[in-house]
Order: sequence, then C-alpha cells, then structure tokens
Amino acid sequence: MMSLGLQIQNCLLVTDENVGALYQADLEKAFESAGGSFHSIILPPGESTKSPRQLERIYEFALSTGITRSTPVVALGGGVIGDIAGFAAATLLRGLPLVHVPTTLVAQVDSSIGGKTGLNHSTGKNLIGSFYQPRMVCADFDTLRTLSDREWTSGMAEVIKHALILDINFFRWIEEHIDGIVARDYKLVPAFVACAAAIKCEVVSADEFESDHRMILNFGHTFGHALERSLGFKSITHGEAVAIGMKAALHLSVLLGNKIELDRIFSVLSSIPVPSIPDSISIDNLCLSMTTDKKRTALRLRFVVLSGIGKAYVTADVPTESVSEAWRRALAR
Ligand SMILES: NC(=O)c1ccc[n+]([C@@H]2O[C@H](COP(=O)([O-])OP(=O)(O)OC[C@H]3O[C@@H](n4cnc5c(N)ncnc54)[C@H](O)[C@@H]3O)[C@@H](O)[C@H]2O)c1
Ligand SMILES: [Zn+2]
Repeated sequence: MMSLGLQIQNCLLVTDENVGALYQADLEKAFESAGGSFHSIILPPGESTKSPRQLERIYEFALSTGITRSTPVVALGGGVIGDIAGFAAATLLRGLPLVHVPTTLVAQVDSSIGGKTGLNHSTGKNLIGSFYQPRMVCADFDTLRTLSDREWTSGMAEVIKHALILDINFFRWIEEHIDGIVARDYKLVPAFVACAAAIKCEVVSADEFESDHRMILNFGHTFGHALERSLGFKSITHGEAVAIGMKAALHLSVLLGNKIELDRIFSVLSSIPVPSIPDSISIDNLCLSMTTDKKRTALRLRFVVLSGIGKAYVTADVPTESVSEAWRRALAR
C-alpha cells in the first residue's frame, strides 16, 4: 500500500464475522509491523448484508473514526464485503481509496476486479451501486483453504464461465485438471486463479462501464439471477445458480442455431454439485423473473450465448419460446 502512496495508519477495515475470525488478527499484525493500524467494522456474513441498513452502519462507524479523504478502505472478505465496502468507499467523502483483499474464489477471480460495487434493494439484486475502481487488489491464495466445499465449487462456476466466454485453451486446461480442481489441489490454484482473473481484467479493460463487450461476463447470469430471485436468495449460492444458468444459456445457444459441444461442456459443469430446483418454481415464473433483471434493455432482454467454446456474443434477438425451452432442458423438465 505504501508503494502506491496510500497511508497505512487509521485505515478502515470492513470484514464479516467469518472472515474476521480467521484473518483479521493476521492482517492486524502485518499492518502493525509496517507501522500501520486500522479501525474495523465487522458485518454479519451473507448476501443480506448488502443492504442499505448495513451501509448506514459503515457510514456511521467510518465517520465516527474521523476519516479523511485519504483514509483507505480495506475490504477483507468475499464478494459481499467487497461490494458493500466498495460502495461505501465510493461514496464516503466523495471517494476514499479502496483496497480489496478478496478471500473467496468468486472474489479473487471476479468481484474484486472491474470496479463494480453495490448493494441489493428489496426489489432486486445489485440495484444500487457505482463503478469505482480499487487502488489495489491483494489476493492471498492461502485464504481459499478455509472455504467450505460449497463455496469452493460455487467459485468454480465463475472460473469455468471465464474460460467458456473467452479462452478455449483455458477451458482445455480446466478439462485436463478438473479432478484436481474439485479435490482442491492447491498446487493448481495459482495457475487457474491467475488465468481466470486475467480474463476478467481483459474484458473490463476493454469496456469498463459495460456498454457492450463487458456484458459477456454475464453469461449464465440472466438465467442464474432469475433462479436466485425465485428461490429468495436462499438454498442456492450465486455460483450454483450461475452453473444452472450457464446450462440454460448453452441450450439457448444451440436453440439459436449455434453448434456447441454440449456434452463436452456439461461434463465439466457437472463437477459443480447443484441443488435440485423444486417443481413449485415454474418455468413461467422463471421467465417472468428474468424480465425484472436489470440487465435487460428497454423492453427486450439481452442474452449472452456462445457460438463455440471461448466465443461469446450478446443478442437481443431471442424468441420467448426458446427461452422457456432452454429452461426446460436445463432443469430437465
Ligand atoms: N462486483 C462484482 O463484479 C461481482 C462479481 C461477482 C459477484 N459479485 C457479488 O459477490 C457476492 C458473492 O460473493 P462470494 O461468493 O464471495 O460470497 P460471500 O462474500 O457471501 O462469501 C461466502 C461465504 O464465505 C465466507 N468466507 C469468505 N471468505 C472465507 C474464507 N477465506 N474462509 C472461510 N469462509 C470464508 C463468508 O463469510 C460467507 O459466509 C454476491 O453478492 C455477488 O453479487 C460481485
Ligand atoms: Zn457471478
């Protein structure tokens, strides 16, 4: 941080209870040994923390510690902490320097990169937010060792997504190493985290404010968000929803006339265990739920589909029946 000209005294550390219990003391020691210090606020874990109420808590706490415009905000945790702490950093005193210390696979390959910050509103996910780039992202691969298996495989969904949208060579590498990745062979971590993170960097550098190209990162997400919303953001993780969402998006790709090696891709995706979706969640409701996704344009939904492995494109030209059929095939109904 010092080499970037950031102060290390009186930083504002934002974390959650789980991550704080595991890593806050280590970080504190590291800061102290360099002559730094921080005030910390510890939020409850989970998606519901991305709320106006918790944001207000960060504001209150930060302002009570006497922050100045050069006080760095250090976000220690997964995507939830990164998103809300990032938004707080973007808005406190019109912008404080932001440092991400991502501790989940999702956060290391995805949410800490690209500058999207935000929170949820009762009417939808990530509806309040801003683009605000971190000054630094510092990922320690060793923190991934304490993730639950479920969080691990959920993160794999975003890794596989990055390969599918842009990089067939990376997809081949994943195919070759899938057993080791699932078994959490940590020797493989630097290679695949760095590769997945580099793909995200490449896409957001080309289109920082998501006018077009960046949308390919939403592959599987229009479907996945509808599932998360229909399940009330409970009983399914974001990564699991994206894994099912990618299956639907792949079926949609085929329905739109693209020639895709479905079996090959599904054999990799099947390494991500997903919960079964109850029949009470109807296809009609899922389709309806998609139309309230904020990534729609005007009246037409835009979908990210593949023309092949590593080749994603965005289209708005999608018949409603194809969307229902893609859902039906993905959920095998
Ligand atoms: N800003 C973006 O571009 C972007 C991209 C993708 C996802 N997201 C957001 O990220 C969020 C999901 O992120 P996530 O999957 O990291 O979830 P998360 O932050 O909720 O973390 C998942 C769980 O793992 C725990 N945890 C975190 N690190 C740990 C560690 N090292 N060891 C043990 N437990 C640990 C957390 O306390 C939490 O219970 C969603 O809100 C999503 O919208 C944002
Ligand atoms: Zn995602």
